[in-house]
Amino acid sequence: MDLPSKSLEIRRATTDDLAEVLRLERSVPEAPHWDASVYRDILLQEPAGSTLQRALFVAVDHGQLAGFAVATVVADQAELESIAVDPQRRRLGVGRALSESVMAWAREAGARQILLEVRSANAVARALYGRLGFQETGLRRGYYSDPSDDAVLMSVSLSAAADL
Ligand SMILES: CC(C)(COP(=O)(O)OP(=O)(O)OC[C@H]1O[C@@H](n2cnc3c(N)ncnc32)[C@H](O)[C@@H]1OP(=O)(O)O)[C@@H](O)C(=O)NCCC(=O)NCCS
Repeated sequence: MDLPSKSLEIRRATTDDLAEVLRLERSVPEAPHWDASVYRDILLQEPAGSTLQRALFVAVDHGQLAGFAVATVVADQAELESIAVDPQRRRLGVGRALSESVMAWAREAGARQILLEVRSANAVARALYGRLGFQETGLRRGYYSDPSDDAVLMSVSLSAAADL
């Protein structure tokens, strides 16, 4: 995978990253907003034999958090649950690099497909996912509130995306 800049590192988060992840999450209205305990739980090892695996990835540039992403794998399906990039560092390839790391991890964890849902009004995120090969597979009308919006369902086969 080509990283957008030599100083950008994509890695699994540690507890030391959580305060900055929360700060960024709270400053990005489009991201789902979760309690700190949700992020802490993601960092705990899943029990042996669990079919669910969940990961929090961070993008770090010169020691500063540039973005993060959360994904889950259950059996052969993955879900990209959340992704956010620091508004000061957008359109530099950070979102794409984070997504590609998530996709590589999900494939390694046994997923054959990755799914997500996105607000229909979120044209930027839909453009990112389209660029990554996601196709629109359905619509959930009125799925979101505050503000009210439809959810666009998208998915990509991880074998088809293997050459990203
Ligand atoms: C969506 C988001 C993660 C993209 O992150 P990013 O680092 O700016 O994206 P990248 O620079 O990697 O862009 C990758 C591709 O996405 C698309 N894209 C990104 N920003 C775009 C914009 N402002 N307008 C149109 N397309 C855009 C382009 O196709 C781009 O590829 P290109 O630059 O080669 O044309 C970022 O805008 C963000 O954090 N948004 C708020 C949170 C959010 O909406 N999350 C999704 C719902 S959980």
